Amino acid sequence: MNKLKEELNLFRNEGLTELNNASSEKELNDLKVKYLGKKSNLTTFLRSLGSLSPEERPLVGKLVNEVRADFENIIAEKSSTLKEKELSGKLSSEKIDVTLPGRRNDIGHKHPLTLTLERVKNSFINMGFSVAEGPEIESDFHNFEALNLPKDHPARDMQDSFYITKEFLLRTHTSPVQVRTMQQAKPNSPIRIIAPGRVYRRDYDATHSPVFNQVEGLVIDEDINFSDLKAILEFFLKDIFGNSVKVRFRPSFFPFTEPSAEVDISCVMCNGKGCRVCSYTSWLEILGSGMVHPNVLKMSNYDPEKVSGFAFGLGIERITMLLYKINDLRLFYENDVRFLEQF
Ligand code: PHE
Repeated sequence: MNKLKEELNLFRNEGLTELNNASSEKELNDLKVKYLGKKSNLTTFLRSLGSLSPEERPLVGKLVNEVRADFENIIAEKSSTLKEKELSGKLSSEKIDVTLPGRRNDIGHKHPLTLTLERVKNSFINMGFSVAEGPEIESDFHNFEALNLPKDHPARDMQDSFYITKEFLLRTHTSPVQVRTMQQAKPNSPIRIIAPGRVYRRDYDATHSPVFNQVEGLVIDEDINFSDLKAILEFFLKDIFGNSVKVRFRPSFFPFTEPSAEVDISCVMCNGKGCRVCSYTSWLEILGSGMVHPNVLKMSNYDPEKVSGFAFGLGIERITMLLYKINDLRLFYENDVRFLEQF
């Protein structure tokens, strides 16, 4: 019997150590089968009870049951610590730090030229203008001839052009929309439009781009005179650049207007003190304008004896550069988000 007790004790120690070292639920389950299952040594010990005397039998049987209880206890204990370990491992590996700043989605921005165009459009729409459009590939007739620029007119050199064929070119200004609007209207009927759009010239440096954006304006009615032109443009420029800006009209020449004037505003960079942007003149040239030339009216079925009008043209890039103090026009076309996201 002592030998049996000794073997049982050995088996117990061996089992407890092995169960205690189990490092996963799976391993623990396998060991459970090994030590408590039908084929385990425990069963063998129980069978061998038969060879013992009736007095010894209950004593050893009790011991076997104690070993079984020890195994069951350590398995239960081990299983719960392993479960805890697994859970805390899972929790720490899946941990989310809710105090970390969130990842933002990048939101798109309107291009600075679009922002200016919207402001310019709104300013004129508020004064009762409507918006007209025309094609970017224009006929020589609409771009030049009907604007009082015959084929041999030297003023065509003011705008170096991209010709596509002898007859068609990329429009050099938005003024052909004046012609199209008059020709589509009933003769002598009133017009009050702006025409925004892309225009093309053979030019490229820090202040000139081969493609840029203009807004044309045209007002025609009975008794429209130069004071109307002055009032509208002065109102518009103060709307865009603020009430304190000074506006000056300077005599100039355009073949399609007579008289013509270039319009300057007091320098928004130095407030009239003189700086590089205004070439120390304290004035900035901002748009071209004038009373629609009688020839232009006549060529588009309007009677200069009955109606008169004024027109103007301005550059969106130029106004944007002044509004946001940008010194290189090329930034507008490079699509660098570091530049664009500032607007
Ligand atoms: N079309 C002229 C230009 O592009 C601007 C302008 C428009 C001038 C209308 C007078 C009247 O330079």
